[in-house]
Amino acid sequence: MVKTALQIGSLSLKNPVLAASGTFGFGREMARFQDLSRLGGICSKGLTLHPRAGNPPPRVAETSCGMLNSVGLQNPGLDAFLRDELPFMRQLGCAVIVNVAGHSTDEYCEMCRRLDQTAIDAIELNLSCPNVREGCMLIGSEARQIESLIRQVKLETKKPVWAKLTPNVTSIADMALAAQRGGADAIVLINTLLGMAIDHRTRRPVLGNNTGGLSGPAIKPVALRMVAEVSRLVDLPLIGVGGIMNGQDALEFLVAGASAVEVGTASLIRPAACQDILAEMQALARVDGVDDLAEYRGTLQLWGG
Ligand SMILES: Cc1cc2nc3c(=O)[nH]c(=O)nc-3n(C[C@H](O)[C@H](O)[C@H](O)COP(=O)(O)O)c2cc1C
Repeated sequence: MVKTALQIGSLSLKNPVLAASGTFGFGREMARFQDLSRLGGICSKGLTLHPRAGNPPPRVAETSCGMLNSVGLQNPGLDAFLRDELPFMRQLGCAVIVNVAGHSTDEYCEMCRRLDQTAIDAIELNLSCPNVREGCMLIGSEARQIESLIRQVKLETKKPVWAKLTPNVTSIADMALAAQRGGADAIVLINTLLGMAIDHRTRRPVLGNNTGGLSGPAIKPVALRMVAEVSRLVDLPLIGVGGIMNGQDALEFLVAGASAVEVGTASLIRPAACQDILAEMQALARVDGVDDLAEYRGTLQLWGG
């Protein structure tokens, strides 16, 4: 048996495959397709303090090797999540990571203060949603704001705080270093890349929000580069996400320096993708003669390096 267990700071995970936020809901619909206790964890749909209706439709568009979405953080709000969804997620037998987004530092802090009193395993700060104009996107593109937000949030909770960064910045290294200075327990790379689809006949964008976030295989090279770059600069555990469709993709992220991965768009195509990807990672490891997936972590050797 290939060993799969790992630590992300103080959090023990049974394996490194997590469902990415926004592509797995709260697990309910996906439970029909797989045994969710086999996953390393589930990152909840992005939550805000108050319910949000999200953006006008259409909200998704297919692209070459990927998709655009402009869901705009439609979610039931923190109260309804704690009442209606968390008890269900808690009994699944995998780690529960709650993805939060705020319009202000105060909102992030209030959400983290309240989540601190619950049975969740970690908080993933969405510092990155490209589909909401106000709030998290602005905070996520400025190093000083990232540092200050995380520092304040850390005063409100003892739960591990993961900083999920946007790739829509000039220097991902600056943002990751800011997250480390602020006291993040792990860094998640990457959220979607800002994009647009256009209908040449109507002369209009396809998405009701005009722009959206690009995900899927198209963004994997960008995500891999960012994980590899950041892993050379920070001492924190990294979680790689972006275009992972199979076990080989996931192992590439471990080699680049990630301790774990999140799988997003693949679950929309194949609901059982997470469990398949874990099985594929183990099968590939056996072929490689590797008996612990952690052995792949950070083994990238750059040319000329
Ligand atoms: C439909 C959809 C909704 C998403 N919603 C969220 C969200 O609420 N919070 C968040 O941090 N990321 C969200 N994401 C981003 C994913 O978690 C992930 O970072 C991104 O899709 C890249 O991974 P992938 O290529 O495996 O999909 C969403 C992505 C998609 C496709």
